[in-house]
Formats: sequence, structure tokens, C-alpha cells
Amino acid sequence: MKSFYLTTPIYYVNDAPHIGHAYTTVAGDVLTRWHRQRGESVWFLTGTDEHGQKVMRTAEQNNVAPQAWVDRLVQEAWKPNWTALNIANDDFIRTTEARHTERVQKFLQSLKDAGHIYAGKYEGPYCVGCEEFKLPGDLIDADGQKLCPIHSKPVELVNENNWFFRLSAFVEPLLEHYRKNPDACQPESARNEVVSFLEGGVSDLSISRSTFDWGIPVPWDTDQVVYVWFDALLNYATAVGLTDAPETEGGKKFAQTWPADVHLVGKDILRFHAVIWPAMLMAAGLEVPKKVFAHGWLLVGGEKMSKSKLTGIAPSDITDHFGVDAFRYYFLRAIPFGSDGSFSWEDMSARYTSELANDFGNLASRLAAMIEKYCEGKVPAKATDAGLSAALTSTVEKADAAMVALDFQGGINVVMDFCKKVNGYVTEKEPWILAKDPVNKAALEEVLYNTAESLRALAVLLHPVMPATTEILWESLGANATIGSLADQQISKVAQWGQLPEGTLVTKTPVLFPRLEIKE
Ligand code: ME8
Ligand code: MG
Repeated sequence: MKSFYLTTPIYYVNDAPHIGHAYTTVAGDVLTRWHRQRGESVWFLTGTDEHGQKVMRTAEQNNVAPQAWVDRLVQEAWKPNWTALNIANDDFIRTTEARHTERVQKFLQSLKDAGHIYAGKYEGPYCVGCEEFKLPGDLIDADGQKLCPIHSKPVELVNENNWFFRLSAFVEPLLEHYRKNPDACQPESARNEVVSFLEGGVSDLSISRSTFDWGIPVPWDTDQVVYVWFDALLNYATAVGLTDAPETEGGKKFAQTWPADVHLVGKDILRFHAVIWPAMLMAAGLEVPKKVFAHGWLLVGGEKMSKSKLTGIAPSDITDHFGVDAFRYYFLRAIPFGSDGSFSWEDMSARYTSELANDFGNLASRLAAMIEKYCEGKVPAKATDAGLSAALTSTVEKADAAMVALDFQGGINVVMDFCKKVNGYVTEKEPWILAKDPVNKAALEEVLYNTAESLRALAVLLHPVMPATTEILWESLGANATIGSLADQQISKVAQWGQLPEGTLVTKTPVLFPRLEIKE
């Protein structure tokens, strides 16, 4: 079976991660968890981009050899950060690993042998922050200096004999590809940008550098190292066995995963992924990715949050206060995926309190308390409510459609609307009033069963977004012992009413979303 294969960018290890990197990786984690719960085989890759001048210079500034620098940051900052955010990636690739460098060299040699690479001279501006050859029209003029519009830093002039990739030969095939497959680049604004960029004409690309050595040697000319983006883009394919013979383990993995289903990226690196990368694949006769999705930027003071501008907020600054699951929830819930958004402490506090603590957390703790008080801690006899059950069916359909289309906000919204509906049901039925008169025992039990079933469904639907919190709820509902593990619950079966067996032992949950402490 072909796996659903999703990748994040591999991030530069010039510094520790900030919430912009976490935004992409959390989105990828939520989407892959959702696809796993659809019963699909999934492969989720992330990693680090370790070569190039940007990383090399940072290491030099810190008086550390580049390899020692990247080793330390990966071990002490990047990997622990993903563990802390509960990211369930299947693999982590580093571009300094032999499994990558060897395959990059093989791939490059094969492009050379096929006539896609030639010797030339490059002269022009380069932004080390972007690691990108710039066009004069890309730059902004500040007092006679040419600045990179993303990094607001002067570009450098490169003048070198390099190896070139015949990128221009792929303009027509790429335009044709995006005309035929509008889904291949999303959202629409991103596709339009790529198409008009291609229509404007594209030059061949310098794919090697000779003035520094922190990179993969060009196999036939070891005075040159491979251009860092050419090296980095290949990670998506080297990590799953690119260039390995079909009968080997790597070859089999490649057949199972390639082409990638989704490359998740920020819009800063859209052109690399939607122009250069598919052209490299076309040149090698390989399938191009099914989708490149470019999301928007987290902004600080109206500008892209970035390591180089020192505006990065560490994920732990937020998770220390709000918890990991609220962090995972907030950015996907608050910002339409594809648009820019600003992080605001106030907005996050407000949503935490109203949506997570009040709507969701309180419902769970009220239900557990009432089952303990009125039903001796056991799930009462099965019941149904036509309204809730119908609402759940439509919730699941809409949430699934939204999530697979990467509309995280839409998907989470419909689930939270269902949560509101369940709260409305409890408020309307007033089980605490019913409990006052034994005559209403059956009616009371019905309300509690239906509420418990609704929470069972909410735990499953919110599991990809908030894995740890929903586990606590699942355990409290006694569902591990009766239904099975939460991660095994299928989206397609969530709406089947009546899954919690009568008599299941319900325990009080610890508060799912504790009251926020006042921040000094
Ligand atoms: O570009 N808002 O690495 P990078 C949203 N190594 N997302 C953000 C963000 C922000 N303010 N800042 C960063 C590179 N990101 C290359 C990629 S891939 C073959 C090589 C996220 O460390 C977003 O996904 O600069 C963006 O595209 C990525 O981090 C850039 O990370
Ligand atoms: Mg960057």
C-alpha cells in the first residue's frame, strides 16, 4: 500500500527553533495523525538543513567547527523541542548524514550524465539568510544598498565558475503540470504566484559553490560543494531511499512512499519547492510531489518572525504557560492555514479560557462528576439522542473533508461547534434537576449516557490536535479498557453511536485545562 507521505521543511540549524518552525511541524503532525486515524499507512518526515554559508558562518562566529555546532544544536535544541511538542515523526533526516550525502552525489552524477548539468559562470547578488541567488528585481533599495526584502540585510555579490542545472528547460513542463493539477500547489494564491513567476521566464540555476567547503563535494569536481538548496531539497527523496536499487530496502521504501503527498512549507520557500524541486525530479524522470502547500507567516510587529532578526519566540515560552496541547490547538484554530497571523498573548488566553477550559474541559469534568455522583461511577444503560447523533455524523463528514484539504481551522471549528452543541444539550436537559427526583432516573441516565458518548467522539476527533489531553479524557471515560486505544480509533467509525458499553468505570479527570496563572 502506498503511504501517505508528508514532509516539513528541514530547518537551518543556525539557531534553536522558534514558534514559526513549530507552526509548520505541528500542522504536519496533526495532519499525519488524522490520516493515521483514517486507517492509512503514513510516513512523516522532518529534519535539519545543516550545510551552507549561513550555518557555517554562525558556527565560525561561535568558534566551533560546523559539524560540532550542528551536532550540538540538533541534540540539545531541535530533537528535544519536537519531543516536547509531542511530534510523532517517523524519521528525522540530517543533511550531514551519509545516507543523504551519498545519495545526493549519486543523483547529481545521474543528472550530469543525462546532460542536465553544464559548466558556467555565475555573477549576481546572493542572500545568505535565504541562501538564494537573487534577481535584481527582488531587492529593495536602501541608500544605494541592495537589501534582501525578507532579511532586510545587504546581499553579497557572487562571482564564480559553477555548475549549472538547466532549469529553464522545465518552465513549459511545469506550467503544464500546474495547469493540469491545480491541487499540486496550494493555496490558490501560492499557485498563482508560482505560475506568474514561471511565465516571467526562469534562468538556469547555479548548483555549486567554490568559495567555501561546508557542503557535499560535487562528485566529478571536488573543488566545489553542492549548492545548499539543491542538497536540501533532495532530503525528501534521499530519506526514503532515492537512487537505491528496487530490490533493496531503500528501493522498496521509495516505491512505497514516492511521490510525496504533501510538502508543507512556509511561503518564504515556495519557489524552491514549486519550481526548482519538481524540475529536478522531472530531469531525473521521477514523479513530482502531489502537493506543495505554502502556509502564511507568524508575524511580530507586522514582519515575519525570524531567527536572523532575533524576533523568534521559543515554543517553551508559550507551552510553559498554556501547556503543549493548547499551543498545538491555538495556532491552527486561530489562523486560516495559508494566511499570515500575529501571535497575541491576549487572544490565546481568551481562546484557552472560553474554548478549551470552559467548552471542552468543563464538559468532561462535569460529566465525570455527575456519573460518579448519580450513577456510582458507571456508564448507565445505552441511549441515543437523534439530534446529537445526527450532528455528530455531519461533524465527522465536515471535519474530515476540511482536515484532508489542510483547512485546519475549518476542521477544528466544526468539532468545537459540536462540543458547544453538547454543552447546550446538557444545559437544556438539566441533569442536576432531574437527579432531585428518583422518578426521573431513566431520563437522567439517558442524558448522562448521551453526554459520555459525545465526549467519546470528541476525544477521538481532537486526538490529532491535542494528543495528551484527549488521552486523559479517554482514560477517564474508561474507554481504554472497553473500546481500545485512542490512537486506533478510526475517523470513519466515530459517528457510530453507542460505543461506550454500559457499566464502564468512569473516573474523575484531572482538570484538562487548568485555570491560567496571572502572568507577571
Ligand atoms: O528555509 N512563520 O529553513 P528555515 C511561519 N532550510 N513559519 C515560519 C516562520 C514564521 N515566521 N519562520 C519559519 C529553510 N517558519 C530551509 C528549508 S527545505 C528543503 C529547506 C517555518 O530554518 C516555515 O515552514 O529558514 C518556513 O518555510 C521554514 O520554517 C523555514 O525554516
Ligand atoms: Mg528562513
